Amino acid sequence: MLNNRTLAQDFWKYGYIHLPGFFDSDLMRLYNNKILSHFGMDPQYIHSDAFIEQSGTDVIPWFPQKDGETCFDAVNNHQDFVSLTQEILGDGWYEQYCMVMFSKKDTLGQAWHQDCVCDNPQHFNLNRLIYTMDISADTTGGQITLIPGSHLSGIIPSHSQAFDEDAAISLSPKKGDLVMMHGHCYHKVEKVIGEYRVSTNYRSAAAQTPENITDIAVYRNMIYEFSTSTALRYR
Ligand SMILES: [Fe+2]
Repeated sequence: MLNNRTLAQDFWKYGYIHLPGFFDSDLMRLYNNKILSHFGMDPQYIHSDAFIEQSGTDVIPWFPQKDGETCFDAVNNHQDFVSLTQEILGDGWYEQYCMVMFSKKDTLGQAWHQDCVCDNPQHFNLNRLIYTMDISADTTGGQITLIPGSHLSGIIPSHSQAFDEDAAISLSPKKGDLVMMHGHCYHKVEKVIGEYRVSTNYRSAAAQTPENITDIAVYRNMIYEFSTSTALRYR
């Protein structure tokens, strides 16, 4: 039985929680099939080449609910998922969007980054990552590597600043797992070695958080604005 209070405390302490077997495997199979039929195995990139090269981010996004795929609503309406989110974010939290992130074989994954700026500790996105396939170091790659507690450490160090990667841990979520991660937490995705790698992010945010909070992401080498496809600053 889940204890939401304890999980929320862990979330605020470590910047993430990993809950194995949270979702029904039949639902995950349905989602994975929908995702694969949308992408096929060799989809085109949506981000600009310059962004992919500069940011080291080799991911193709898809917003299934915007394409009328209503089966993805089942997670939004999952009772334990909603009550855990409520415990973490408090009254007035809201859903942002459901974004599938697809990576092809032999791609880079994602370089170290924060999903949004951390000028205001109260303003952050909550990543609610669900896994419709098993991620493993040996077969797929694409593990999520993060530094526990780093959501409290301010902006991620640039390449010229000290950065303690020894403190990092790698998660290999299995089909049906849920990972919740604070948008200020330092994280990256390892190289993809299997046929493909998919995770699905039901992003949400606390009340008062601007809806466009993830428009600006922070990488070790730059601060990047997605809506204008520009590096606001190199670091
Ligand atoms: Fe991220």
